Amino acid sequence: MFKKKTIKDVDIKDQVVLLRADYNVPLGKNDRGELKVMSDFRITAGLPTIKYLLEHEAKKIIIISHLGRPKGRDDELTLRVVAERLASLLPSVTVGFVNDCRGDEVEQAVEEMPKGSILMLENLRFDSGEKKNDEFFAEDIVRSTGATLFVQDGFAVTHRTHASTVAIAKLLPAVAGLLIEKEVTMLRNALEKPKHPFVTIIGGAKVADKQPLIDEFLPVADRLIIGGKIAADGYTSENPQVYVAEDFDENEAGEKLDVGPVSTCKIVDMLSGAKTVLWNGVLGKVEDPAYATSSVIVAKYLGENDKITSIICGGDTSGFVEELQINNPSLNYSLVSTGGGAALQLLSNGEMPGLDALENK
Ligand code: 3PG
Repeated sequence: MFKKKTIKDVDIKDQVVLLRADYNVPLGKNDRGELKVMSDFRITAGLPTIKYLLEHEAKKIIIISHLGRPKGRDDELTLRVVAERLASLLPSVTVGFVNDCRGDEVEQAVEEMPKGSILMLENLRFDSGEKKNDEFFAEDIVRSTGATLFVQDGFAVTHRTHASTVAIAKLLPAVAGLLIEKEVTMLRNALEKPKHPFVTIIGGAKVADKQPLIDEFLPVADRLIIGGKIAADGYTSENPQVYVAEDFDENEAGEKLDVGPVSTCKIVDMLSGAKTVLWNGVLGKVEDPAYATSSVIVAKYLGENDKITSIICGGDTSGFVEELQINNPSLNYSLVSTGGGAALQLLSNGEMPGLDALENK
């Protein structure tokens, strides 16, 4: 059970809501050289919370987020483009943007907000106070916005101890949004009470990053499959539950860049009959389509099989699956997590300060 209070446990009517989202989305440029959002996956994932707040008559919704890892103000990492994309996804709602995240300009913009509208503030990380978990920075944001309720819905950042995950939650009643509730519940269920047979697929590049996950899942998974660079680099296990990919597609230089056909067939075979599958880490160098074959086969197998509770997590894997869904909209997963490091941390039973900071039920 999800132990934190959510927006469903408090009265939303007439609240000035400070909503922490994770809109750390990939940006690119259009033909005219203007910034644009390359994937709105994290923006659409947060819409149910925003819609709930609007339907329950929040007076004003002020959204805060970070974007990228700027060192000071950086026009290439402005949230203005995200606000524009959000506005296009919510055509009947006024969505404004202000060039700062605290101070007079924010105060005035909040003052002028029509009832039931949204205002997005500029990238929190333009200010060094954000990453320092600076309480004065947090106080300034709360004062400038006049917020009466803090809603944390940026699951992907809840493993960080930052002003917008920890300090701010001490200043206001602090509850979780619907995205956090869904992601945390599904990820924890996979760890604590998965439906069996339960198969975990772990890929990716660094053993050091994935070993804690392997250790957590070995006692609960009926099968643990290792692919990706970890397998290509020679990961071994004596445990009979563990299957490490055994053949690889190589480039001309002999680099092993994708799980090969023999292993891919065996992996699909291991997935058949599974009731729960958790997949973290792509199986090959998927940015090159020539080496995405095994990941595509696994993603399609899971996305086409509605008898499997399929949980996709980790930044590269979620991004890969989400892109595949654009051309294959019928692919369906139980959860494509927005959390990269956060999902890994939660699944490895690590600290989640941004969740701990929220009120208990
Ligand atoms: C993410 O993309 O994983 C989150 O937005 C956190 O970003 P960070 O790793 O820069 O803190």
